[in-house]
Amino acid sequence: QQFKRFYHPKVIDHYQNPRNVGSMDKNLSNLGTGLVGAPACGDVMRLQIKVDDETGIIEDVKFKTFGCGSAIASSSFATELVKGMTLDEALKIKNTTIAKELSLPPVKLHCSMLAEDAIKSAVNDYKTKRKNALKQPTLGP
Ligand code: FES
Ligand code: FES
Repeated sequence: QQFKRFYHPKVIDHYQNPRNVGSMDKNLSNLGTGLVGAPACGDVMRLQIKVDDETGIIEDVKFKTFGCGSAIASSSFATELVKGMTLDEALKIKNTTIAKELSLPPVKLHCSMLAEDAIKSAVNDYKTKRKNALKQPTLGP
């Protein structure tokens, strides 16, 4: 069908078998959530990361994307990338890395941008939460 003719097999693979789809309990204290939208097309992506507070390593990742095949493939690939990374490494991920891996055509570059933004926003959400938690006065003697 149309989709298959125009897309790289890697996109189709991630689209048909997306990795790490789902969500984690948003009440977990060591969870960061990124929710981003693409104004151009209205697609929305949510990415959650579960972080080891001690090491700053991303232990688990889940995503949900309401969007086109490239956006789903980009988020699926992004979850594979960030799992096991430190927060700072994850912040360095560029959409071009994702686009290159999936051989996205120019009109689909913003789909990979969505994944980059979602990662950044999840990391920043975690960092903000963590900062606030550390600020809380400790009770006790
Ligand atoms: Fe165009 Fe995402 S809205 S496919
Ligand atoms: Fe908009 Fe893919 S067409 S995210």
